[in-house]
Amino acid sequence: MDRDGLQLSREQMRSLGYRIVDLLVDHFAETDENTGRSPSRAALEEALREDLPETGADPHAVLDQVEEDILPNTRRIDHARFFGFVPGPNNFIGTMADALASGFNIFSGTWISGAAAAQVELITIDWLRSMCGLPDDAGGLFTSGGSMANVTALAAARHAQLDDVLDDAVAYCSDQTHTSVDRAFRLLGFQPQQLRRLPSDDQFRLDVEALTEAIATDRADGRRPFCVIANAGTTNTGAVDPLPALAERAEAEDLWLHVDGAYGAPTAICERGTDRLNGLDRADSITLDPHKWLFQPFEIGGVLVRDTTHLRRAFRLEGEYLEDAMGADEEVNFSAYGIQLTRSFRALKLWMTLKVFGREHVAAAVEQGFERAEQAERLLRNQSEWRVVTPAQMGVVTFRCAPDGWDKSRIDALNRRLAPAINEEDQIFLTKTTLNGRPVLRLCPINPRTAARDIQMALDRLDELRHSVQV
Ligand SMILES: Cc1ncc(COP(=O)(O)O)c(C=O)c1O
Repeated sequence: MDRDGLQLSREQMRSLGYRIVDLLVDHFAETDENTGRSPSRAALEEALREDLPETGADPHAVLDQVEEDILPNTRRIDHARFFGFVPGPNNFIGTMADALASGFNIFSGTWISGAAAAQVELITIDWLRSMCGLPDDAGGLFTSGGSMANVTALAAARHAQLDDVLDDAVAYCSDQTHTSVDRAFRLLGFQPQQLRRLPSDDQFRLDVEALTEAIATDRADGRRPFCVIANAGTTNTGAVDPLPALAERAEAEDLWLHVDGAYGAPTAICERGTDRLNGLDRADSITLDPHKWLFQPFEIGGVLVRDTTHLRRAFRLEGEYLEDAMGADEEVNFSAYGIQLTRSFRALKLWMTLKVFGREHVAAAVEQGFERAEQAERLLRNQSEWRVVTPAQMGVVTFRCAPDGWDKSRIDALNRRLAPAINEEDQIFLTKTTLNGRPVLRLCPINPRTAARDIQMALDRLDELRHSVQV
C-alpha cells in the first residue's frame, strides 16, 4: 500500500473489493435476517467515537468494524418486512452501477466532462417522460431526491409564472402534501401563508371545489395565484388527487400544475399505475423518484418539466470560468437545469436496471407492491378487531385496531403503542401516521422481495401484540 499516494496495490484492491461484493451478495440473497436496529446515541458513541486517526489502519480491519458496528446498527430499509415510511427496495444492478459511477467519479454537470453520462441521462429521463405521457420535447433531470426535485420544479414555476417577483403570489395544495413542498416554498423565498394547504376531501385528496373558491377569494383580494401542487400518491395514504379536474382548473386559471409523484409517479411504468395516474400527462412539472418505487439505491430523484426552457432560465449559470464548458446547445449541460454543478452519474443505475430487467419485469415488480397492499387490506377486513381506515391504494394501506367497547382515547393509545412494540423486535418495521387527528398504522409493502407470508406474519404479530401491550 502506498499511503502517501492514497493507493492500494492491485491485490489489496481486489481482496477488499471482493470482500465488499461478498457482503453485498449476502445482503441481497439473505432476505430472512432481521430488519436491523436503531441503538441509542450513547451505545453508538461508545462503539464509534475516536479521535481523527493519525496513521491509518489495515483496510480489512476497518471493514471488520463496518461489519460489526455500522451495518447491523442501521435499519434495513430494503428488507422484505420493512413497511415503514417509503421503503428503499434497491437492487443489485443499481448498486453495482453506483459503484462504477463513484469509482470512475464521473462528472455529470457538463457535456465536456461527462458526454456519455449526459447522453444516458437524456435517454433515461426520456423513458420516464414517455411513461408519464408528457410530449416528446419535455425533459428534466435527476436530483438527489424528491425534496430537491420539488424545489427544482417549483423554482421553474416561480420563474415562468412570476418572473421571480413573489409579492402577493399564492399557490395551493392539499393538507396531505409532503412537507418537502413547504420547505421548497420557504427556500424559494415565499412566506408560509403563500402556500395554501387546503383541507382535503374524505378520501384525503385535494378538493377541487375548495381550490376553486380559494382561487376566487385570493383574486378578489388582489393576490396572484400562480401554481397548484397536486399529489400522485401521498405519503400518508397513497391518495392521488383528481388530476384531470385539477389540470382543467389550472388551465382555466392559467396556473402552473406541479404534480408531486415522488412516491407514486414511478408506477406509470405499469398498467395499474397508468390507470391510477390518469391526467398526469397534463402536468407542467412532475417529481418522480427512482429511489422510491423504481428500486434504486438512494440518491436518485427526478424532475420532469413540460417546457425545459423554464428550468434553464430559472437556473442559468454565468460563471466566466464555465464558458468553455457550456458547449453547443444540443450537447446538454445538466448543471444548467438544476441546483448542482458537480453532480454524480445517477442516471447510470436506473439505465442499467431498466436495460438488465426490462420494463416488463420492473413493471411486474411494481404491480406486486399494489397486490401486497391489497392482500393486507383483505386480511385486515377479515380480522374482527381491525378496521381499514383507507383502502389499499398506490401500495399503501392504513388501519387501526379498534376492540369493541373501547373508547376512542384508549384505541388511540393502543395504536400508538403497536408500531414501537413491533419495531423493537427487529423482525418487522412499520410506522404510524395521523389521519383526521387520530393515530393509524400504515403498511407500505412495495418491496418486490416481500412475500405474501411476510404480510401475514406482520398482521399476525400485530394481532398478538394487541393483547400484550399495556394501555
Ligand atoms: C410524496 C413525496 N414527496 C416528496 C418526498 C421527499 O423525497 P426525498 O425524501 O427523496 O427528498 C417524499 C418522501 O417520502 C414523498 O413521499
